[in-house]
Amino acid sequence: MQRLVVLISGNGSNLQAIIDACRAHQLNAQIVGVISDKKTAGGLKRAEKEGIKTIVQEKIANQSREEYDQLLAKQVTDLQPDWIVLAGWMRLLTNTFLNQFSGKVINIHPALPGTFPGTKAIERALQAYKKREIGATGVMVHEVPDEGVDSGPALGMKVVQIAAHDTLETLTERMHAAEHELLISVLQKLTGEKK
Ligand code: GRF
Repeated sequence: MQRLVVLISGNGSNLQAIIDACRAHQLNAQIVGVISDKKTAGGLKRAEKEGIKTIVQEKIANQSREEYDQLLAKQVTDLQPDWIVLAGWMRLLTNTFLNQFSGKVINIHPALPGTFPGTKAIERALQAYKKREIGATGVMVHEVPDEGVDSGPALGMKVVQIAAHDTLETLTERMHAAEHELLISVLQKLTGEKK
């Protein structure tokens, strides 16, 4: 069984997709820890309900990004992960963290490679659709080899069509459903056959 550490900042619906897939024996993996940079993150409750170890590490005033990342790296190292999944983790990680987990960090982002990096990607895609600049958007799971924002090599992607009647709410709902499906299929490939 491969060991997953999941980093979250919010609702944790992608975390829930992993929890469900593990419980349904669809993944040769177990979540050995969930770390949040926000104590209010809804995903923490999802993890606690499953009896998964949770850690809250909020950034404190005057702490540099590197100091924060060094403490975070220590917490992650203690959990001995095979994979570190950024599932709605809203902090940019520095090389202080990334260099310690080379090839092990993956991120889910609600846009196709090379489009809409950073926050509000779904909202910006909908605006671009309304200006007739795009006809579809999508989701991707990518490696995080460096400090680039949502720019690492894609491990998988899924196109999501936009319709004229879409609102931010309806599009977001379809994007999240696509994320959950893609994340599990990429994790299945990374963690290997169920043993
Ligand atoms: C997802 O859309 C993810 O791609 C983005 O933040 C959102 C988190 O959703 N980075 P959730 O917390 O997994 O529900």
